[in-house]
Amino acid sequence: MAHWMDRLASGEQFDTRQWVEILSQYQNETVREALFARARQTAQRYYGNAIYVRGLIEFTNYCKNDCFYCGIRRSNACAQRYRLTKEDILSCCEEGYALGFRTFVLQGGEDGRFTDDAICDIVSAMREGWPDCAITLSIGERSEESYRRLFAAGANRYLLRHETADPEHYARLHPQGLTLEHRKACLYALKRIGYQVGSGFMVGSPYQTLEHLAQDLQFLSQLRPHMVGIGPFIPHRDTPFKDFKAGSLEMTVYLLGILRLMLPGALLPATTALGTISPKGREMGILAGANVVMPNLSPLSVRKKYLLYDNKIATGEEAAEHLAALQRRMQAIGYTIVTDRGDCKPAAKGTRC
Ligand code: 5AD
Repeated sequence: MAHWMDRLASGEQFDTRQWVEILSQYQNETVREALFARARQTAQRYYGNAIYVRGLIEFTNYCKNDCFYCGIRRSNACAQRYRLTKEDILSCCEEGYALGFRTFVLQGGEDGRFTDDAICDIVSAMREGWPDCAITLSIGERSEESYRRLFAAGANRYLLRHETADPEHYARLHPQGLTLEHRKACLYALKRIGYQVGSGFMVGSPYQTLEHLAQDLQFLSQLRPHMVGIGPFIPHRDTPFKDFKAGSLEMTVYLLGILRLMLPGALLPATTALGTISPKGREMGILAGANVVMPNLSPLSVRKKYLLYDNKIATGEEAAEHLAALQRRMQAIGYTIVTDRGDCKPAAKGTRC
């Protein structure tokens, strides 16, 4: 039974049929418990009982894209749009630094107003103001030249989920003009430039099959990103996918366990979406091998407006100002929040994180 786990941990690649077989066992309690115990052990070996925190600054919800699943898609006329100024962003960093954050994640829609010059100006100011902090960008698809300029300005990490590694499935989630091929090219460019790269996908997105998830795992095992963000799909009422059901909590944590064995030194967040579908979602993620949480550092006045999906949590223990409460929750399950930069640990022999 534990056989595939040993093989996965030793770096073996599985074909789609084998993955489907493994994935179809996600509701088997014996398998789950064995997987999670092993994933925890692996996380422990690389990171001890540390949980890294990243301060998330959602600086614009304008987006030129029209992804069918996303609440801040261009066609959503109900979204209340906002942009933070450079000064707003720097005050978020100031507040975050005082709270103990040493990584800032600038996340936003693909907003044309934030040109390379504009983002470089913000990143340079952050780099100068907080030289000991890691700067992560999560601002979508841009040219390689743009990624280079942002890196030179001081950005260290980049988050860009591939969303699904099957080209046809990708086309069912995105409007024409957005392609998996281009998304992958961006990810490989980011790696080449020297960013620590995060990718990932939604679990239970419309039309997703186990074969698609198998392809996601195969793609990630090829890309070998430093970080992998996964969370359940959650419908948003003002999108074409409003009537689809949310992705499964059980499948999401099962996949986290698998990812921990496959990429042992990776940074795996217990995401906001996981915390949104279940009050204990993030704890379950950590007990399945996740080791990062990303509290929200955005100004309170805009937090409810960065609504990627319905009921997105924003002001409870996921809020940066409630770090002490988050720490208590982590300690209750045997973990502790640490506030260093939390870089990715190199994986053991023969593999890379
Ligand atoms: N449900 C869950 N996750 C979503 N995202 C966007 N819309 C949704 C949704 N409805 C995720 C995407 C994106 C990340 C920022 O948020 O995977 O990459």
